[in-house]
Amino acid sequence: MQRQFSLFQSHLDLAHAYWERLLKPGDWAIDATCGNGQDTLKLAQILGKSGGVIGIDIQEEAIARSRELLHSHPTADLLAGVHLFRQSHEEFPPLSSERPIRLIVYNLGYLPRGDKGITTLTETTLQSISRGLELVMPGGAISITCYPGHSEGAREERTLLEWASQLSPSNWNICLHSFPNRSASPRLLLLQKSINAR
Ligand SMILES: C[S@@+](CC[C@H](N)C(=O)[O-])C[C@H]1O[C@@H](n2cnc3c(N)ncnc32)[C@H](O)[C@@H]1O
Repeated sequence: MQRQFSLFQSHLDLAHAYWERLLKPGDWAIDATCGNGQDTLKLAQILGKSGGVIGIDIQEEAIARSRELLHSHPTADLLAGVHLFRQSHEEFPPLSSERPIRLIVYNLGYLPRGDKGITTLTETTLQSISRGLELVMPGGAISITCYPGHSEGAREERTLLEWASQLSPSNWNICLHSFPNRSASPRLLLLQKSINAR
């Protein structure tokens, strides 16, 4: 049965619809928190074999789960375009200038079914996203899913929103999606770099 698409059901549906609209086959994207690999898989499916995905996670368990998901998927040949790195995302792996990055994705928080003590942290998340601002190509974007339902997640979201609201409006278009009648539900923060950004 086909899954019903609804922007009003899930922040993930909205994020995925945005990525589909932004990315073109042959592009490169980074998943800066690959976790169980669902987002990495989605990016690989959008980009096809001509593009590529760099997946990063601080935990070996997350890298292993992502690899397993990609291998077990019927379109397992997608794995060829995915490069997984176990490291913290304040630094990105070495990138070739021939592979400009159109999208960087953060799905913050902890690994579902994993150690809740290993979660993204406000300071390192901000450091990583600040680097991402430089890295992403004009017209590209950074997609950030925030989880204000736990205390570090709430602090992280507050700090990111304050910080993002200071970015130059001539270089960055910023959009926040939330469910106002569900206070602890995830929110999607999109930062799109202007095509003429300096
Ligand atoms: C909510 S999960 C991501 C879910 C994932 N995108 C998916 O589709 O399944 C958050 C992930 O961030 C990772 N993480 C936490 N701190 C990190 C850091 N400093 N650098 C990279 N990954 C980190 C965690 O290990 C966890 O797997």
